[in-house]
Amino acid sequence: MNPPSLPRREFLKGSALGVLAGPVLERIAGTRSRLAEEIAVLQDRSLAGMADQYSLDPKITYLNHASIGTIPIPVQRAHEAFLSLCEENPWLYMWGGAWEEPREDARRKVAAHIGCSSSELVFNHNTTEGFNLLASGLPLGEGDEVLFSSLNHIGASECWRHHGQRRGFSVRVFDFPMGEAEKMSRERLLELHAAAIRPETRVLVIPHIDNTLGLRHPLPELCKLAREKGVEYIAADGAQTIGMLPVNLAESGVDFYCMSPHKWLQVPKGSGLLYIRENRQADLRPWQVTWGQSRWKGSVRVFEDYGTRALPDLLTFSAAVDFHEAVGQERKAERLRKLWQHCMQVADSTDGLRWRSSRDWDLSCSLYAIEVEGKRSSEVANHMWEKHAAVFRAFGGDLNSMRISPNFYTSEAEIDHFFEIIKTEIIG
Ligand SMILES: Cc1ncc(COP(=O)(O)O)c(C=O)c1O
Repeated sequence: MNPPSLPRREFLKGSALGVLAGPVLERIAGTRSRLAEEIAVLQDRSLAGMADQYSLDPKITYLNHASIGTIPIPVQRAHEAFLSLCEENPWLYMWGGAWEEPREDARRKVAAHIGCSSSELVFNHNTTEGFNLLASGLPLGEGDEVLFSSLNHIGASECWRHHGQRRGFSVRVFDFPMGEAEKMSRERLLELHAAAIRPETRVLVIPHIDNTLGLRHPLPELCKLAREKGVEYIAADGAQTIGMLPVNLAESGVDFYCMSPHKWLQVPKGSGLLYIRENRQADLRPWQVTWGQSRWKGSVRVFEDYGTRALPDLLTFSAAVDFHEAVGQERKAERLRKLWQHCMQVADSTDGLRWRSSRDWDLSCSLYAIEVEGKRSSEVANHMWEKHAAVFRAFGGDLNSMRISPNFYTSEAEIDHFFEIIKTEIIG
């Protein structure tokens, strides 16, 4: 069922609202048409030159989009316009219904962008929150098991342990062989999951793209396998995927997909998304409830039943999708593939560097691990930040790698400069 929104007629009916409604919708339309003008030129521009669309400090080499993204300037402007509009009459926007239609427009736009129905999409805060809802709200108990590999992020793992202790279900983690990642085949990845699933496994959690190696898990094949083995609920972690690569949730086979679009879709920080397949919604109990439970009964909005919330941030989803569609999803993915290939070539041709992620683009993405042999990754990261303002995430342990995550506007020159410093100052 589609989320109920306040119909335009009803919205226009009240006296104060009736007077204000027209101008409000006009101003939103104005913000949208300004954005449309600003981004119309993007499809004809080269992606490599689009750093001018962002506020990133040019003194910084930003190779850490996987930790947190940066919002394009045209989207920032739209966000600022929504923030200012809200402050003119906060009641009207927060509670007066003036943003009901724009909110549902944003939901429809994002849903179309990621291949699901707007009746399956929740606006929440981030991936961690999505998984907390699942761990607290799925019908699980004694004898049930939740399974995931050691690649799973803590934000998609800890909540299962926490709620499992209270509710009686168990959590099992199987070891992902990090050393095999570089040459891992799709078949081997499926084999690892097939071997790990047991009759008591009721929930399988899959990192669509994990945050250390950037291994892109093939969701349709994994879901098929898991269903054949009797797994009831499949939840994927899409924190790294949405906005980085095209996603089609209807075809993915998953029941739940938790997202942190502040990373790659570049929406305001603290704005998240959760996909709940239509036929799974009745199985899930909301974790946070207030007046919306009766008003939104039977719709996906019962899972976003907050009180006051940052509606200007939510409206900005529309602008972010417009921006990324103007850039072009396929074009962006192709540019990211080129940068991935470029980094792999640099790693392969440099003594002292070792590529640790998959060499198959279909199992990889714009997040990869490169080891500086014989050096501690945390020390490399400190040196590169303190001396050269270069930002990336370091992972220790067996991986001991730099995690590099460029975006489509990162230039080859920046990457080459970065590795040149690593060669001369770190490898020596
Ligand atoms: C794969 C993955 N899952 C989950 C998270 C947690 O994201 P958030 O803090 O936005 O909930 C991250 C954050 O880096 C991540 O990379």
